[in-house]
Amino acid sequence: MYLISPNYSEIGTPNVEIKNFPDGDLYVKINKIEDCQGEDVMFFHRLYPDQNNSIMSALLVLDTLKREGARVTLVSPYLPYSRQDKTFVQGEALSAQVLCKMLAHAGAMKLVTLDCHFLKKEGEFDYRGLTIKNISASKMIVEYARSLIGLEGLEVISPDEGASHLVSEFGGKTMHKERGEYEKGKEAYRTIEKIERTFEVKGQNILILDDMISTGSTMIKAIENVKKGGAKKVFCGATHGLFLKDSLSKLKGMCDGVFTTNSIANSAAAVDIKELIEKALV
Ligand code: R5P
Repeated sequence: MYLISPNYSEIGTPNVEIKNFPDGDLYVKINKIEDCQGEDVMFFHRLYPDQNNSIMSALLVLDTLKREGARVTLVSPYLPYSRQDKTFVQGEALSAQVLCKMLAHAGAMKLVTLDCHFLKKEGEFDYRGLTIKNISASKMIVEYARSLIGLEGLEVISPDEGASHLVSEFGGKTMHKERGEYEKGKEAYRTIEKIERTFEVKGQNILILDDMISTGSTMIKAIENVKKGGAKKVFCGATHGLFLKDSLSKLKGMCDGVFTTNSIANSAAAVDIKELIEKALV
């Protein structure tokens, strides 16, 4: 399989130039594109941070490869907009669906991604015309957490029902999260009203596992809850670490460890996804 990776990808030798025209429009050029003609091609492209530009450049690369008859598997460890797969109030955009339709239309025959928010299990799925191979990093994250506490027991729990699939194979229990209405102002954000628990955590080492940490609000409320319940050591793990604003330092100050994979580059990334991606491509 031929590998295409842009100049800011750490996987493979960069062979796509992505620049800007003076007015800000994107310029994309795939070097030695003749090597891709009629071939199976893996296009590795991180779609976060700067998701809107990254998505546009991905569409341009995909279409360019399609015109050469390449069969392209897009590998994007984190899929932006994946939380907008349903609407909460009338008139809202279904951004996850729009993005997947656009990727398929531009030429992605398959998308390989990790712990996609709207796919609640591993495997291959057809989503709005795009074949998505979803791989879970939860096993690696749990192994990493276990390596930190040695022989002591570790309970793996999810902070909400949406992440219960990540903890079920570890016998994990699930907390209940309630969000409020959208806040006023420029940001589209629904506050977290509460996180509740119906099981005991007293004296236990706890790993709170989620698909992503964004503003950190979910984890903050979940940590407060289990600490109040008398948990011994508390860790936070997630596949994707966006860590907006000062959320990482806040979380570090509240618990015994915070870690994610390197699906998005961040200073808490402790689990390397390379092996998972390589396996998924065989
Ligand atoms: C939502 O359902 C997700 O699984 C995460 O719990 C959520 O996106 C985390 O966001 P934040 O860090 O902003 O609470």
